[in-house]
Amino acid sequence: MSDYTFQTKLLHNSHKFDPATGAVSVPIQHASTFHQADFDAFGQYDYSRSGNPTREALEAAIAELEGGVRGFAFASGMAAISTAFLLLSKGDHVVVTEDVYGGTFRMVTSVLTRFGIDHTFVDMTDLEAVAEAIQPNTKVIYMETPSNPLLKVTDIEGVVKLAKENGCLTFLDNTFLTPYLQRPIELGVDLILHSATKFLSGHSDVLAGLAVAKDEELAARLYALQNSFGAVLGVQDCWLVLRGLKTLSVRMEQSQKGAAEIAHYLASHSKVKNVYYPGLVSHPGHSVHFRQASGGGAVLSFELEDEEAVRRFSANVKIPVFAVSLGAVESILSYPPKMSHAAMPDEERNKRGITDGLLRLSVGLESPDDIIRDFEQAFEN
Ligand SMILES: Cc1ncc(COP(=O)(O)O)c(C=O)c1O
Repeated sequence: MSDYTFQTKLLHNSHKFDPATGAVSVPIQHASTFHQADFDAFGQYDYSRSGNPTREALEAAIAELEGGVRGFAFASGMAAISTAFLLLSKGDHVVVTEDVYGGTFRMVTSVLTRFGIDHTFVDMTDLEAVAEAIQPNTKVIYMETPSNPLLKVTDIEGVVKLAKENGCLTFLDNTFLTPYLQRPIELGVDLILHSATKFLSGHSDVLAGLAVAKDEELAARLYALQNSFGAVLGVQDCWLVLRGLKTLSVRMEQSQKGAAEIAHYLASHSKVKNVYYPGLVSHPGHSVHFRQASGGGAVLSFELEDEEAVRRFSANVKIPVFAVSLGAVESILSYPPKMSHAAMPDEERNKRGITDGLLRLSVGLESPDDIIRDFEQAFEN
């Protein structure tokens, strides 16, 4: 089975059909508890927080796709990320990429600090800055590449090398690319995190988080935390993510093709100050990105003159929904300063280049020609 291409593995995996009935869709097992024939020897399942067959199918699927030993499904991306941070203890320190997702920023700055876990934000495009930020008590280096919302690219293998030299673990939020385009465990990363709310499920109809561990030791520690903290994904939502996964490759291909066309269009438009998309050769991280990923992805950001220009453009644009989130069949336009990065103080946000003129576009499955025509009229109005 491991010989199959990624595209085939999305469909032909260990849960291709239910061995009990032959059903070609994973059964949804609602039971919260399981009858035990003997209290000295429990069966495979005892209580659904600790293990559930529907959740296990999703956890096995994502582990196989990311190339890790074990997957974990959580109630949201933030539940996955927050549970992963519980691997740290009082007195530990974490190095975090500076334009990290706003919710992760909030977790690190206002929750972990209360438990005596310190942090340093760094520009992770700069390996020297990462090396300088590592302290004797640094236990984790946290990456997001391409980052949100500026699509900055981190050299994954470079950071892994630094982490190994300093005895740290590496975590990577792979939400933007998914394992279809980037498999960081193959590059040595210890723990992969996902907001499966995005491309993995793909239809803006489920909130979910996933984690995948590279080795058994880390997997055992994370399993204990998943079971202790208890923020597991419900079975209906597990099923929705499993269904979404089946079409991941075709959705990513189509959306990525559209994103490239739209990025080129925006890059040549007089009203656009900057376009951030790793698929453009002009992107500063382009060559590093294509060493570690097989495509530019389906998310791009672009900068207009100011907030007023954003206001006019977003009032006139018709096709994308104007909303928080990304990674869906419909294109989603969002305004990071007031949406994904609202949790970040203005000063921090501006320092990171997330200016008042910045818009982020997640390209869906519409014809890119229609989106370009729509943008053209929105710029003219
Ligand atoms: C890159 C990234 N990581 C994590 C999250 C958090 O995921 P969730 O909203 O599923 O909790 C998001 C959500 O937007 C995200 O964009």
